[in-house]
Amino acid sequence: MGTSDLKVSIVGLGTWQFSDSWGIKDYEQAKSIIEKALDVGINFFDTAAVYGRGLSEQFLGRAIKELGVREDVVIATKLPGEFLSRHDVFKGTKRCLERLGVSYIDLMQVHWPPLWNNFPTCEYMRALEELVHHGVIRYIGLSDFPVELVDSAILCLSTENVVSNQVRYNLVERDAEKELIPYAEAYGMSIIAWSPLAKGALTGKYTPENIPKFNDVRGGSAIFHPQNFSQIYEVVKLLKSIGEKYKKTPAQVALNWLLMSSESVIVIPGAKNPEQVEENAGAADWRMSFGNWLTLEEASSKVRISRVTW
Ligand SMILES: NC(=O)c1ccc[n+]([C@@H]2O[C@H](COP(=O)([O-])OP(=O)(O)OC[C@H]3O[C@@H](n4cnc5c(N)ncnc54)[C@H](OP(=O)(O)O)[C@@H]3O)[C@@H](O)[C@H]2O)c1
Repeated sequence: MGTSDLKVSIVGLGTWQFSDSWGIKDYEQAKSIIEKALDVGINFFDTAAVYGRGLSEQFLGRAIKELGVREDVVIATKLPGEFLSRHDVFKGTKRCLERLGVSYIDLMQVHWPPLWNNFPTCEYMRALEELVHHGVIRYIGLSDFPVELVDSAILCLSTENVVSNQVRYNLVERDAEKELIPYAEAYGMSIIAWSPLAKGALTGKYTPENIPKFNDVRGGSAIFHPQNFSQIYEVVKLLKSIGEKYKKTPAQVALNWLLMSSESVIVIPGAKNPEQVEENAGAADWRMSFGNWLTLEEASSKVRISRVTW
């Protein structure tokens, strides 16, 4: 991971799914997903204080403890942009440690920059650096930060570095390629790609005729709006046909494409069941041909997602 000594699987597990937003609220179900992730070689788990207001951290920490794998896994969590005054960075981190039931967090990320609270960048970055010195977090990461603010954040630090930026990146939402990925490559930072399956849109199970009425975080999502999904579906059809050649699923091809696009990229697909985790892990141990990569590059370049849906 970036310039750190953390060794992570390039396919990790996103655990926002353990929340009201995505619907997994049963601990045993969450544990079965985590257990399967470990079985198939995933050692990197992403959570956040806000996922289910702590539920995701609780489930993840409890499963890791019950399975006895704390030293074998890399835990990344996040403090929301509202928790970034100096004293709240300390208090918020203490709560994360308690919910996770651990004595240290491998990667603490700033979930998004402070928007309306006016905290100076150096206030929270220096507080995070102090937490590294106290040994309760090992490394500092950012999330949803533009490059200008990543620069400012790095300049606040004396002894530590920013090892990662977690940003939206999938085959049909590629804005990260414009600045964020080149910046990460230049400075040896990892890009942790969130929504790498475009919230399930790239898995092939949804069609323009069969977009369910989602009663989760996807209700009203721009990705599934007919004006956008009809374009996305053209890419899904290619994912299917390319996948047939390699005996891979559309989800595996979509993740493989991201991993081929930059060595700085790590993907953290979320999963609703153990089968999905196993399938997603199968994105990592092969490479599609350059020709197939280019076909997807060209097709996805034509997709123009608009968020002006009303
Ligand atoms: N930093 C940030 O601001 C931020 C924002 C968003 C997410 N994240 C992180 O990124 C992680 C992943 O992003 P995401 O959850 O938004 O979207 P995603 O990973 O693109 O999509 C996840 C959803 O796709 C479906 N799916 C996953 N694997 C599948 C497979 N193999 N076959 C069929 N369907 C499959 C599942 O939903 P269904 O089965 O219900 O379709 C799953 O809940 C989150 O868990 C979270 O850790 C971070």
